[in-house]
Amino acid sequence: MKVILVGASGKIGRGVDKAVSVNHEVVRVGLADGDVQCDYTDPESVRRMFTTIGPYHALVSAVGDDSRFLPFEELADDDFRYGFERKFLSQIRLMTLGKPTIHDGGSFTLTSGFLSHYSNRRGIATGPFNGALETYVEHTARFWPRGIRINVVSPGPVVGPGRKGRGAVTSEQCAESYVQAIEGTMTGRVLRVWGGFPVPESRGAAIYGRRIEAAISNTRTGAAISNRRTPETPQGNQRTGERRRGD
Ligand SMILES: NC(=O)c1ccc[n+]([C@@H]2O[C@H](COP(=O)([O-])OP(=O)(O)OC[C@H]3O[C@@H](n4cnc5c(N)ncnc54)[C@H](OP(=O)(O)O)[C@@H]3O)[C@@H](O)[C@H]2O)c1
Repeated sequence: MKVILVGASGKIGRGVDKAVSVNHEVVRVGLADGDVQCDYTDPESVRRMFTTIGPYHALVSAVGDDSRFLPFEELADDDFRYGFERKFLSQIRLMTLGKPTIHDGGSFTLTSGFLSHYSNRRGIATGPFNGALETYVEHTARFWPRGIRINVVSPGPVVGPGRKGRGAVTSEQCAESYVQAIEGTMTGRVLRVWGGFPVPESRGAAIYGRRIEAAISNTRTGAAISNRRTPETPQGNQRTGERRRGD
């Protein structure tokens, strides 16, 4: 298969490149590096990329520098606009502008991230857009014609080999899910590679709902409000995060 990899030189992109190029031809795309240069925030640049590359079987988007990590209180419109235009709109644009030249049965695999559910004070201009992207994929997979499949990989915090941390994964572990999305038959799926972070029952609610309820209850009883998260129980199988369309 001919696979376009946007963000090929990045932390995750390098792992995907290594894994995918074992069995497929990879066309590496970057803002400055790669076989083809493209700014995915610029529709004309994206159109040129697809014209240059011609027909292809799969596209992976693993573009970085797509979010501003500032304290919640400092976030301004432009910071949200920055994240929305990259994380959400530009990834979707790769699919809409790439639709005419993808082969029948081809696939698009986008990238979200664990901040959709595991928010922190500096992740508010990216986490909600991860969630929006996943919802877009789940809701629209059935509308794509010609057997075109769309999926999204949600990496946990990516670390180097041998490094540990809460929810940490390597780019090699992430790459396995991108390969599955390219070579498999799935569509409308969110593939969570969360290195043991449990998957909440519903977005945010399972973790934070209980915490908010506890805080309200504590306020009523006069107890101090804790800033700690609800304890999370690690799970061994990162694949338990997979959600089917309609789940
Ligand atoms: N790293 C993590 O721990 C982690 C965890 C969860 C989710 N994620 C998500 O995974 C995705 C990739 O993250 P990463 O850490 O691998 O990123 P990264 O290392 O910063 O990736 C940079 C790559 O993106 C390309 N790029 C940057 N701006 C571009 C643009 N405007 N148009 C086209 N290509 C552009 C760069 O091209 P050049 O080299 O040519 O400039 C480079 O190939 C992001 O969506 C991120 O939020 C990452």
